[in-house]
Amino acid sequence: MAGVRLENVWKIFGEFEAVKDMNLEVKDGEFMILLGPSGCGKTTTLRMIAGLEEPTKGKIYVGDKLVADPENGLFIPPKDRDIAMVFQSYALYPHMTVYDNIAFPLKLRKVPKQEIDQRVREVAEMLGLSELLNRKPRELSGGQRQRVALGRAIVRRPKVFLMDEPLSNLDAKLRVKMRAELKKLQKQLGVTTIYVTHDQVEAMTMGDRVAVINQGVLQQVGSPDEVYSKPANTFVGGFIGSPPMNFMDATVTEDGFVDFGEFRLKLLPEQVEVLEERGYLSKEAIFGIRPEDIYDAFFAQVKVPGENMARAMVEIVENLGGEKVVHLSVGDLAFVGKFPAESRVKEGEELDIVFDMTKAHIFDKGTGRAVF
Ligand SMILES: Nc1ncnc2c1ncn2[C@@H]1O[C@H](COP(=O)(O)OP(=O)(O)OP(=O)(O)O)[C@@H](O)[C@H]1O
Ligand SMILES: [Mg+2]
Repeated sequence: MAGVRLENVWKIFGEFEAVKDMNLEVKDGEFMILLGPSGCGKTTTLRMIAGLEEPTKGKIYVGDKLVADPENGLFIPPKDRDIAMVFQSYALYPHMTVYDNIAFPLKLRKVPKQEIDQRVREVAEMLGLSELLNRKPRELSGGQRQRVALGRAIVRRPKVFLMDEPLSNLDAKLRVKMRAELKKLQKQLGVTTIYVTHDQVEAMTMGDRVAVINQGVLQQVGSPDEVYSKPANTFVGGFIGSPPMNFMDATVTEDGFVDFGEFRLKLLPEQVEVLEERGYLSKEAIFGIRPEDIYDAFFAQVKVPGENMARAMVEIVENLGGEKVVHLSVGDLAFVGKFPAESRVKEGEELDIVFDMTKAHIFDKGTGRAVF
């Protein structure tokens, strides 16, 4: 087994910089997610690790082995990297049985027949495909086909798995099930896995760590908890979480408030201390707070008038059954709260709301970088 390391990796197509100066270390046995919007460079990064694409600059290591170093003319082809890749459109061979589809990579490598048989049956058992070995792909459900594609990757026992949105062709329910199965399987096999998705729920639920990418630039790498509760910048704050974090232009006042013009909120002493140290007092900044950290005052534990409360107009209520997503406004200021199902909010009525200031974020107005 082996980890994967990217050092100052660039991919430039003509004039277009698809991946910019990427530094990323994936530990041995780790489940790493590459998360970001469409076109941000996820697939390109994965293809460079697989050896399907040569980086323009930088170094890529699989374990201790340098596999790409264009500046020194080094490029190890995919077949010698001991990596298995599972794509979004997993092409199974339609005329072959499940057994033969899984056995295929081993036959290519001229593994003895008896060993092939043993390994195929072992993998089939692991993936719950034992009863289906004689079927053809067209006789399988989408989820079963997906498992055959996984089986074909697993059976090789590679050092590293690369997966590019392998679940995106499945329906929502099957995706949830496969998500859990894949995570369990990865832990069981202990093989370093790099998994690409633009689905933040998939990223949060499956990954040991998540690498958030935007426009070819790595924004933050951290555990799901870290990227959720300590986003490095407004992009990460806005990309992770649903509905996304609220961002509001504010002035940080000398006496320790965030002032929105329409109303103001008192910052905690330790927050004021950090802001003072970093030179943000009496300056404009971006205030960030997640919808789940704005409460219907009726249900709030701690409410301090003039410090963490506001009276808001309820514009729209989206009832999701288990909770209510509520679009609120104070004057020209609009933001979203997430309230418990029991909340008696009504569209067109006013409501007292409470901001959980322990969960507040401040970002630099110019760079979008988090102060906290
Ligand atoms: N061979 C190529 N030539 C020129 N541009 C390319 C090439 N391959 C990718 N790109 C561009 O590089 C950028 C990153 O592409 P990539 O496929 O890595 O995105 P992605 O993050 O996987 O997106 P998606 O979520 O849509 O799959 C895109 O703007 C894409 O148009
Ligand atoms: Mg892609």
